[in-house]
Amino acid sequence: MAGTETQQDGLQENRVFNPPADFTAHAAIAGMDAYNTLCAEAAADYEGFWARLARETVSWHKPFTKTLNESEAPFYKWFEDGELNVSYNCLDRNLENGNADKTALIFEADDGKVTTATYRQLHARVCQFANGLKSRGIKKGDRVVIYMPMSIEGVAAMQACARIGATHSVVFGGFSAKSLQDRIIDAGAVAVITADEQMRGGKPLPLKAIVDEALGMGGCDTIRDVIVYKRTGGNVAWTEGRDLWLHDVIDGQADQCEPEWVGAEHPLFILYTSGSTGTPKGVQHSSGGYLLWAAQTMKWTFDIKPNDVFWCTADIGWITGHTYVAYGPLAVGATQVVFEGIPTFPHAGRFWETIAKHKVSIFYTAPTAIRSLIKASDTDAKVHPKNFDLSSLRLLGSVGEPINPEAWMWYYKNVGQERCPIVDTFWQTETGGHMISPMPGATPMVPGSCTLPLPGIMAAIVDEAGQDVPNGQGGILVVKRPWPSMIRTIWGNPERFKSGYFPPELGGTLYLAGDGAVRNKDTGNFTITGRIDDVLNVSGHRMGTMEIESALVANPLVAEAAVVGKPDETTGEAICAFVVLKRARPTGDEAKQLAQELRNWVGKEIGPIAKPKEIRFGDNLPKTRSGKIMRRLLRVLAKDEQITQDISTLENPAILEQLKQAI
Ligand code: WT7
Repeated sequence: MAGTETQQDGLQENRVFNPPADFTAHAAIAGMDAYNTLCAEAAADYEGFWARLARETVSWHKPFTKTLNESEAPFYKWFEDGELNVSYNCLDRNLENGNADKTALIFEADDGKVTTATYRQLHARVCQFANGLKSRGIKKGDRVVIYMPMSIEGVAAMQACARIGATHSVVFGGFSAKSLQDRIIDAGAVAVITADEQMRGGKPLPLKAIVDEALGMGGCDTIRDVIVYKRTGGNVAWTEGRDLWLHDVIDGQADQCEPEWVGAEHPLFILYTSGSTGTPKGVQHSSGGYLLWAAQTMKWTFDIKPNDVFWCTADIGWITGHTYVAYGPLAVGATQVVFEGIPTFPHAGRFWETIAKHKVSIFYTAPTAIRSLIKASDTDAKVHPKNFDLSSLRLLGSVGEPINPEAWMWYYKNVGQERCPIVDTFWQTETGGHMISPMPGATPMVPGSCTLPLPGIMAAIVDEAGQDVPNGQGGILVVKRPWPSMIRTIWGNPERFKSGYFPPELGGTLYLAGDGAVRNKDTGNFTITGRIDDVLNVSGHRMGTMEIESALVANPLVAEAAVVGKPDETTGEAICAFVVLKRARPTGDEAKQLAQELRNWVGKEIGPIAKPKEIRFGDNLPKTRSGKIMRRLLRVLAKDEQITQDISTLENPAILEQLKQAI
């Protein structure tokens, strides 16, 4: 297990922080007794528990009568005969229940300019958008790729698709033309919604030009329209008959649009994510079950209240931006900040300044951002959180990767001022919403531990044969029962879904998360020890080592490549690539220059987030006599540690000396 060596901190951690009494007093789950009561309800009558929540939390156009259908397991169906519309639940419902003039979105642009939209305004905009999409012939079941910057329009695009029953697939704006092309083809999308450019750290970056490039690579024959939001007014090339300005498509459309009622299992979206093998997989989510958990976790994990100002810093290109920007906050009628910029522009106090500016009360970000801001405030005292008025905060959250106890403590003391609980939320693209996390008014918090499963989530730790292991013993994290917001299938590849997530070795019924974990002997708290497959987590972004290897070997200079992760102070893990060239092994300046060339190449093939931090060249790679690359050894080399393992089965032990040397 890759991560077990690196994330042990949580195991020895014995500091415990109880939720403040005044937080508990008003919390949705007020105290451990309340938490335990919910867990007991789920244990006693699993379907009844979920049916109750689904009736209370979701507005159904047609009520469901069946809760869970397991007849085609693991292709589970939830609330299958119920009908709803997700956009109705996020927008219309707020017009009906007194939130019409409440601010839904506070958009904070890269340059600090603020634009807001009330629920009434957002509803009108989404209806116009939906009518515009319909006018282009886009209809229920069609796939629409969204390649947009963080913006009100980006959220509106997702909601508009939901309104007409089109299945969106958001592609993160940092992905390359090649990655975009792959996703368009796999999804069979009929349209791309994009922007001319995006602004990041004061600089415009192209989006439309990358769409042009992706479509120019061929194979995207299903695409009829490219709809372009004018964000910067920068120059763009134009293909007549294919390209349309968003304002031309939607201005003048009616601001009412009857929602398309869909079955609960209707695919709301596909979101591509990396696995240990092959190309990224299209994780398909449902409408009813997904919405239920997006809303329910807003209430439980984030304890959302009518006066809160919620801010999740994730991009809509990731699952966190789906569940906790585009859907969850709107489904519960919250006010939220949508942020276009980056944490370090115009200075590394931007997050704290923005919290003060909008009186944010619930703040949700990634450990990697926290670690980089700790570093920044160590070197520049002006950007330290103490210089900003953070008194509006009442709850903090962490997501995407394990948070090391030191970073947790800094976050707790300096940002939360020892007043705010921290919810360390473990979940995945596939899980749709939170799985294991403290409930902020109940669970005693332990730095570095995501603590306990949410009520109704049957998480457990098993061995390689699928048998439970005792607390204190590490193993494989699984979920024993299906839950409403789980992945439904991999788009176009049900076999990969079944064998990948419900492996026969574990008995075929346990959901395999892909992470290792251990439970504390006394408390039962979970600590995630890291991925057990070849998936890396770099700054909370998930990447398959195979994907990066394929990108490297696609370069004409490269004969062979192996990619491993190595621990990194800021990004959690960093990508280290071992490369064999078709020409002689380069050294000195030539090696430096070729490494840079290959880094840029990977950036072009996948996206800048996939660029290896380090590249080492060898005449060969360490292999067993049967030709298998020994990644275990490469991981040790990448960490610059001594090899203590048995290397007697190595075909070519001498190669290890070469690969020890960083360039
Ligand atoms: C992987 C999922 C969760 C949405 C964003 C990432 C790691 C995520 C935690 C956490 C330890 C975590 C796991 C997981 N992970 N949250 N709180 N503590 N590890 O979603 O891209 O699908 O990645 O991120 O390894 O499997 P994702």
